[in-house]
Amino acid sequence: MCGIVGYIGPQEKKKILLDGLQELEYRGYDSAGIAVIADGKLQHFKAVGKLKNLREKAAGFRSEGPGAAIGHTRWATHGKPTELNAHPHVGAFSYVVHNGIIENYRELKEELEAKGVRFLSQTDTETVVHLFEQKIKEGLEPFDAFKATIDRLEGAYAILLISEAAPETIFFAKNGSPLLIAFDAEEIYFASSDTAVIGHAKEAYYLEDGEYGYARPGEVRLFGPGGEKPISTQPLPADKAMAQKDGYRFFMEKEIYEQSTVISDTMLGRVLEDRVEFEELDPGLFEGIDAIKICACGTSYHAGLTGAYLLERMAKIPCQVEIASEFRYKEPLLTPDTLFITISQSGETADTLEALKMAKRAGLRSLSICNVDNSSIVRESDAAILTRAGIEKGVASTKAFATQVMVLWMMTLYLGQKRGTLEAETLQIELDAMRRTPKALLVEEKLHERIHRLSKRYLHGHGFFYIGRDLFYPLALEGALKLKEISYLHAEGYPAGEMKHGPIALADAELFTIALMPRTLLYDKIKSNVEELSARDATILAISPEEFELADDFIRIRHAEHPMLEFFEMMVVTQMLALEISIRLGNDVDMPRNLAKSVTVE
Ligand code: M6R
Repeated sequence: MCGIVGYIGPQEKKKILLDGLQELEYRGYDSAGIAVIADGKLQHFKAVGKLKNLREKAAGFRSEGPGAAIGHTRWATHGKPTELNAHPHVGAFSYVVHNGIIENYRELKEELEAKGVRFLSQTDTETVVHLFEQKIKEGLEPFDAFKATIDRLEGAYAILLISEAAPETIFFAKNGSPLLIAFDAEEIYFASSDTAVIGHAKEAYYLEDGEYGYARPGEVRLFGPGGEKPISTQPLPADKAMAQKDGYRFFMEKEIYEQSTVISDTMLGRVLEDRVEFEELDPGLFEGIDAIKICACGTSYHAGLTGAYLLERMAKIPCQVEIASEFRYKEPLLTPDTLFITISQSGETADTLEALKMAKRAGLRSLSICNVDNSSIVRESDAAILTRAGIEKGVASTKAFATQVMVLWMMTLYLGQKRGTLEAETLQIELDAMRRTPKALLVEEKLHERIHRLSKRYLHGHGFFYIGRDLFYPLALEGALKLKEISYLHAEGYPAGEMKHGPIALADAELFTIALMPRTLLYDKIKSNVEELSARDATILAISPEEFELADDFIRIRHAEHPMLEFFEMMVVTQMLALEISIRLGNDVDMPRNLAKSVTVE
């Protein structure tokens, strides 16, 4: 996730910015930059990679005395992680940093290009600085020009802009991405997260969506949809580690809560009114393709399995899913009419990368679904779709899985459109359901409290069976993986209909069955599978919108009309259950024993 800092005051600005960005490093980034306006003149430095590269580039630069400055760490979403794509973005006399995604940037860019503006980067952000300068050229005062600029923006943003047209001033705006202003006597700080300013300032104002304004020495003016507003500050937290986790106990917990927001980023600019678009994909990629092979490991493999149900059902394309470490040595038959899709959060998983190289050697076209641009898997693939989950710190994957599944669902519709396998009405139903996903991923306090209370009953026993059917079978696998990774309890995911072919022999009161019982998909079938287990005295925890009288414990999810909405809600429940059990057992949730975040060995 990108990070923003800003500063107005007399101190050495480069140092304040770089130190602030350093504090935001934990959010992940692949390039960084700063811009300073001092003595009415702008200067900027950008570098790809770690902040030390930026420090080296700016080593000889000093910026004490009055002035304003902005800085940014970028996690690539639109355009590669290059210096040109790094922020701050440059106009003729202004600079901008931005977090979020400007949805209508293509339209704005075309409009500006028609007026002779030349773009340097591939980013959506650059439109902001050119639009601002265009308004100045049209004769508007700087603040009016800024207001007119943000009025044109659609999407999510936290923006800081500085300009020679208003030296010592930072213009700011927030909509959908976090931004705060912090104060220390005469000095004014901006940041996307309070960790960047803890230790510098004591009080902060956290902006609301739709707010904007400007700051200059001794003056901050804040505006909202209803006009000018007073600024009421609150004390900044003292604990940086806690602040990095946004107050959550563990990164994994924070990442579970973040899912509702990051899934919107995954969809932004891709889920349109009447269709799905991937502007990063060359339509030729799918020409002559009659089958799909998905290859991945761990959680990404489970996302792949989910995708295969969707792709076959709606895009009517045969789809096989393979565990990368198995695929590598099975001497697979590979034909050029097959699109080879790899899924990887890190983009560095050795087995997945080697499988991809094998497929390429066999002449297959390749597409990766990945969270890290410029990773080995992305570089090796013919095309890539970024999941835009932001950095995931917890070793147990949560938001990476949610966004991978979303990309696969979107790809299903994209291919369904292309292949003409989706009725217009079905497409609309799917798109409507997609748009409701962020809500389905919201964690209600009541639900968290219920799972916390229930978790104490599940700390012993001789194992867990997560069972589900259809789409809910891969979710059962993923739920079981989450539990074993962080609780060290034995858990298996199983297709519910298969239990009677062997595992039911294990059933007794000490066998915990987590039954995924969606109302919209094969409810009666899974119900009878669970009844069979209950008859053998297994302890049943049912997760469903329908009360199930044979369940020993029950977690109710909201009623939804679409299986994917039930899928995402149940996913949150299984993640939370694993988290709460692990916390009760006193384990290190974020760094479970024997596991690494990125598995770069075979
Ligand atoms: O980075 P990748 O998605 O390629 O990683 C694959 C697996 O190592 C990963 O999903 C692993 O299973 C996670 N720890 C699951 O929580």
